[in-house]
Amino acid sequence: MEVIRNARVMQQTVKEYLQRGSSIGFVPTMGALHGGHMSLVQRCREENDVSVVSIFVNPIQFGPSEDFSSYPRNTEDDAAKLQEAGVDILFMPGVEDMYPEGFATFVEVERLSDRLCGRFRPGHFRGVATVVTKLLNIVRPSRAYFGQKDYQQALIIKQVVRDLNIETETVVCPTVREADGLAMSSRNLYLSPRERKAAAVIYRTLCRARDMVLGAECSLSDVKNLMEEALSAEPLVDEVEYASAFDPETLEDICSRDVTIYRKGRVLLAAAVRIGRARLIDNELVDMTAQEEAA
Ligand code: PAF
Repeated sequence: MEVIRNARVMQQTVKEYLQRGSSIGFVPTMGALHGGHMSLVQRCREENDVSVVSIFVNPIQFGPSEDFSSYPRNTEDDAAKLQEAGVDILFMPGVEDMYPEGFATFVEVERLSDRLCGRFRPGHFRGVATVVTKLLNIVRPSRAYFGQKDYQQALIIKQVVRDLNIETETVVCPTVREADGLAMSSRNLYLSPRERKAAAVIYRTLCRARDMVLGAECSLSDVKNLMEEALSAEPLVDEVEYASAFDPETLEDICSRDVTIYRKGRVLLAAAVRIGRARLIDNELVDMTAQEEAA
């Protein structure tokens, strides 16, 4: 595995692969790699001639009171995992390389960035959209891979790719879960053993909400109430930032709308909670079209 720490060198290397006609697959990460990342890496390797993974803890997507300085950094372990997985290039630019003195251009996706996590993390998606645009411009991949756990992030990146005519296919891969259903996340490392056990409430609640949506007639506001109550009932949950049903394309909260409209469509159930030092998110996309056809 080749390790490249400089954007210009990365661009030159990519140019050579593209001239040879190779397809490039790309997995952008902030490191602290877990099974979720490695599933993206595996898919990337299967579908492309050359696989590139980036590790860059992007300062501009963290708010002033967020965990940028304490975000888990395990570069040696990460590099060993990627090498073992057969990745061709590990790209690890420095902050001064990505944001040199005088840097002044940002990518802002209106509307989608203000909803769900955006309400609680102002500026977060501007930072994500900016760094991902830069990384896609540097790596020029045919395909870039993201996890469904970060549904809103993936939707925003799809919008950026569409709006800015970037020639990359955005591939969204299923969430990888621990045995008790907790979505894999680098921030799970912040949880104490008791908190880790308690965190399973998130997926349990999403599954109950999904069953409710798929089951007998109910209003989406009943679903929202169930989610809020079930999450708040867990003593180690310090705060439920949001827990509701959303339109999977616009991310508007749809809990006050007529559920019968969504009987034929898709509903995104999503939640963000704080447990100890960790802010955890998860979601479940409920597709009622199959059910409608079977009925
Ligand atoms: O999901 C992440 O790890 C980050 O938000 C990303 C996409 C690598 C951008 O920094």
